[in-house]
Amino acid sequence: MMNNKYIGVFDSGLGGLTFVKELMKVLPDENIVYFGDTGRVPYGTRSTETLIKYAKGDINFLKTFDIKLIVIACGTVSSVVMEHLNEDIPVIGVVEGASKKACEMTKNKKVGIIGTSATIKSNKYEQTIKNIDSDIKTTSFACPLFVPFVENGMADSEAAYLVAKEYLDIFKKEGIDTLILGCTHYPHMTNTIKKVLGDNVTLIDSGASCADYVKDYLIKNDMLAIKKQDEQYKYFVSDSTSDFSKIANLFLGKNIDSLVKKIDIEKY
Ligand code: DGL
Repeated sequence: MMNNKYIGVFDSGLGGLTFVKELMKVLPDENIVYFGDTGRVPYGTRSTETLIKYAKGDINFLKTFDIKLIVIACGTVSSVVMEHLNEDIPVIGVVEGASKKACEMTKNKKVGIIGTSATIKSNKYEQTIKNIDSDIKTTSFACPLFVPFVENGMADSEAAYLVAKEYLDIFKKEGIDTLILGCTHYPHMTNTIKKVLGDNVTLIDSGASCADYVKDYLIKNDMLAIKKQDEQYKYFVSDSTSDFSKIANLFLGKNIDSLVKKIDIEKY
């Protein structure tokens, strides 16, 4: 049994396209409908109550398409909202894949986690890691300023380096050997993070790990697509579609300007 329905993916904005890019690489035949909540971004500073409301609306919108699976390509929603959902189709977030990968990679059993304030407050990564291997010691720290650095094209700047030095100091002190980039935007900070932590700390990209996780899941459940839909990739946002190609380009590595449509997310 194969399944040619769409995979529905959403994020607070365009950051989730880091996951989509990886998914396209590992599963080129899958059909994807993406929703980026650009009208209500950022999510990383919101309360649990608001995040639940937003996530449910985002999922309701995706469910207007013929979808087989929902992927929450947002570190914040994956960490905070997952346990409050009760969907009739499978939902996968970014926490499981990245946690699993980190547990496989660490040698000294000291793993660090960075993410938005809401993600770090939730302790979701820590709990998931402890469930896999209770011997692993976790240290986490919120890095809220990384998102605007990435979105403004300043990920490799001197200013970003100085901020990263402050944020990441705790991980140097703890002597971690593996760091989970628990937010969609952080893979773009890789150079700067490496400059601070050195090459010996393994960085785990939550979007890329999630793409591998989704692949395993689809294979295991006999749900892989073998036929591309006429419109293989669909993109929707909740704010103006103009001006967004720069960021979309950064995250996806290609121009999708003409493919993006605006919807009114408040209706869902
Ligand atoms: N997508 C969010 C995340 O991965 C980052 C941006 C935001 O705060 O909305 O946590």
